[in-house]
Amino acid sequence: MTAPDKADVPFPGLAVVIMAAGLGKRMHSKHAKVLQPVAGRAMMLYSLELGMRVAGDRIVVVVGHQADRVGQVIKEATAGNDHTPVLIVEQRDLLGTGHAVLQTRPLFTGSGRTMPQQFIILNGDTPLLQETTIRRLLLVHQKEQAAVSILTAILDDASGYGRVVRQSSGDRVSRIVEDRDANAAEKGIREVNVGTYVVDGDFLFPALEMLRPSNRQGEYYLTDIVQAAVEQNRPVAAVVLDDPNEGLGVNTRRQLAKAEQTIRRQIRHRCLDAGVRMMDPASTWIDAGVTIGKDSVLYPNVILEGTTAIGEDCIVRSGTRITDCVVGNGVEILDHCVLRESHIEDGATLGPFAHLRPHVTVRKGAKIGNFVEAKKTELGEGSKANHLSYLGDAKIGKGVNIGAGTITCNYDGVRKAETVIGDGVFIGSDTQLIAPVTVGAGSVIAAGTTVTENVPDDSLVISRLQQVTRPGWAAKRRAMQESPQKSQAKRRVKPRQTKAQRKKPR
Ligand code: UD1
Ligand code: CA
Repeated sequence: MTAPDKADVPFPGLAVVIMAAGLGKRMHSKHAKVLQPVAGRAMMLYSLELGMRVAGDRIVVVVGHQADRVGQVIKEATAGNDHTPVLIVEQRDLLGTGHAVLQTRPLFTGSGRTMPQQFIILNGDTPLLQETTIRRLLLVHQKEQAAVSILTAILDDASGYGRVVRQSSGDRVSRIVEDRDANAAEKGIREVNVGTYVVDGDFLFPALEMLRPSNRQGEYYLTDIVQAAVEQNRPVAAVVLDDPNEGLGVNTRRQLAKAEQTIRRQIRHRCLDAGVRMMDPASTWIDAGVTIGKDSVLYPNVILEGTTAIGEDCIVRSGTRITDCVVGNGVEILDHCVLRESHIEDGATLGPFAHLRPHVTVRKGAKIGNFVEAKKTELGEGSKANHLSYLGDAKIGKGVNIGAGTITCNYDGVRKAETVIGDGVFIGSDTQLIAPVTVGAGSVIAAGTTVTENVPDDSLVISRLQQVTRPGWAAKRRAMQESPQKSQAKRRVKPRQTKAQRKKPR
């Protein structure tokens, strides 16, 4: 097998097995551990993506606990990947990591199937592992013609991990002993098994067949294949991590938080290196699936989530959260906006305090101002909704002005209906549009109008009660409030008004 050591070049004949069936008791969660999010991405997807970058052969993920949900996450993450087949195998009884890998055997043996030359086996709970490291492990494995190669780390606190027992210090590896099975001397070993293995194709399944659950947990340990190789006089290689943090196995919430912090820092560094300006990197939260163009500026306390893609020269001010949005170039998003599953085109301006719920399109140069909520709405090029509005299920054309306090009444308590507003319409302040309704292009809706019927192009619509004005009324009331006795007395002298007199506005 030739050995590519460049990033993104797969190793021919290399299959990947990812173990993701475990329950993760130590997490104290109702959700499968491997689905716990790290920087917005299910933990096991870090192992899967790593696998996809090196696999020249199949990738098999072993699922068990919450198999359906884990399988679904894998399918979504690999949709559109057509170069490496990703297969899923269920481990029905969770009898240990050795048992997990054994479940993949039917996918590699039997008629018409070829056994891969090598396997790389990854735990589903080591999200900090780097591609360069597993490439190094693969190269060492080939160079030393090993049957099994393991990745190790030297930790100050090795508790919880399997310890690497060597014949003598720095010498050949003889076996791995699990934390729970280790004696006092073995517990003192600081070199741990990271849970990343390269195993020769001819060695793997025969060795797994021979595993016995003779340990404290009564499990079939994958780690026991190391001792099996030694006993068969097959070479075992080991690569020690330069940065032991990379080998972090996430079993607990504390370890999850640590992984999260590390990955978020790496993401920020990647963005900074790509030309993004961050006023305060430490308070800027960017999920793993987010992209940001150069010369965009992120102010402190910005949160960018999911699959959000932000273009170049954008400004995102403090307190804003953007989830699964596509933002064009030169967009300005002011403070405290919440934006979800929406599309914001070049040069648009949003906020402060704007709320976009799913499926909003803000076209080029359009403006959504403070305290405007929009849902399933298109705001046309150059249109403005600057203040205090609700725009739901609306299709708004170009150059439209939506006055302050405009409400699309899109819900009658049973169903939703659409509002259509043509190009160049002027909607006066405090207008209600009772959907379904259409306002024709070029029309003017006077302030305070309730639009209940479709409006033809270029019309004026006005619906208000006639105004009543009583000159001097307010001054009289003030006077009454100032000296109530005097005005009461005055009132008493005055003859009572007739009904007709009272009706007439004065
Ligand atoms: C494992 C290693 C340990 C190593 C540590 C590194 C074994 C026996 N021990 O311990 O030497 O130091 O990882 O982090 O392998 N899984 C299954 N099916 C099962 C059991 C586990 O698919 O029946 C999966 C889990 O989902 C997880 C991975 O295997 O992704 C590791 O299992 P876990 O229980 O976390 O092993 P550790 O006790 O951490
Ligand atoms: Ca673990």
